[in-house]
Amino acid sequence: MQDPFTGQATVLYGGRQPGPGVQASLQHDHQRRLEAFTRFRTAAQKVGIGTDPDDDLFLWEDDQLSLLAGADALWAELAAAAAAFRTTLPLVPLEWFGFPADHEDPMGEGSPRLHRIGSGVEASAFQSVHDGSIYKFYLPREEGRIGGTFAFVATCSADGLDRPALHAEACLGSYQDLLEKLALILALDGMPTEVLGVTPEGVVVAKQLLGERLPESTDVSSLLPTVLIPIPARFLRAHRDHPRLVFVAGKPWFIADTHAKNLVRDSEGQLRVIDLLASAFPTSLADADPLMRDWLNRVSIDPKAGLLHEANDDEL
Ligand SMILES: Nc1ncnc2c1ncn2[C@@H]1O[C@H](COP(=O)(O)OP(=O)(O)OP(=O)(O)O)[C@@H](O)[C@H]1O
Ligand SMILES: [Mg+2]
Repeated sequence: MQDPFTGQATVLYGGRQPGPGVQASLQHDHQRRLEAFTRFRTAAQKVGIGTDPDDDLFLWEDDQLSLLAGADALWAELAAAAAAFRTTLPLVPLEWFGFPADHEDPMGEGSPRLHRIGSGVEASAFQSVHDGSIYKFYLPREEGRIGGTFAFVATCSADGLDRPALHAEACLGSYQDLLEKLALILALDGMPTEVLGVTPEGVVVAKQLLGERLPESTDVSSLLPTVLIPIPARFLRAHRDHPRLVFVAGKPWFIADTHAKNLVRDSEGQLRVIDLLASAFPTSLADADPLMRDWLNRVSIDPKAGLLHEANDDEL
């Protein structure tokens, strides 16, 4: 199938579940894009180009490097990495989606081919008049940031006796954080999602299968994917719903915000995540607390392992 806006190949059509194997191939696409971005960032660092914030790299135009590519091997690798990344993340003008060009608030003006269905902190979500698919436009924020993630701080004894070891504070994210969030949705077997590209203004465009929304007050705590590990409050607190730890390919992530507004039912009745807030788990901060380090080690082997060691009978 071809996406009606970008002409790219797509497997998403309204709310229709794509066939078996498609989830794995979508996940593979997300991983490939992240790997290409890592290669590009690494090459940029080697020639002294800053990578934080990462908006300039994300929007890099191929021809910006054509003259320098011949300078030496490092610049040649940078040019190759930039071109490889761009094949995984094309530039897609907003006008392709029916939004006005060069407008201060193009999404606010609306599009004859996309109907707004939701506006969150990170993205504006629209439904296509063609087939009902969902298109999400993540707007750039100040200082080259976009979307959201978490920053972590360790508490100290002055914070009181019942303090958690760590606090998670939601903050603005990088473009890499946004790609990681979208990949995590797939890793949790969430709603099938494609990244269509980035607009020259830095708006990231994603496409998602249409799901059925849940009543806002639904208590989803017992319905969340079982790979999500509840975090004991003595270790980490976040002023967010459902703070969880999850291991993806052995790497620990902190995930929150999987509340009723960020879950939908797919056409087969299965609950699926459409959105979440995430960050790499702060392993080095956690390692400073012996109990937390021990807990992390145990749940990495068995997600159901609780707060304390199971006592052996002969220790009782
Ligand atoms: N795949 C989908 N199917 C049905 N409705 C959706 C889908 N994706 C998004 N929506 C609707 O659009 C809203 C906003 O989308 P999303 O949560 O992805 O954006 P957000 O800006 O990250 O939101 P927030 O900051 O409020 O969590 C959702 O709460 C939901 O009502
Ligand atoms: Mg949301």
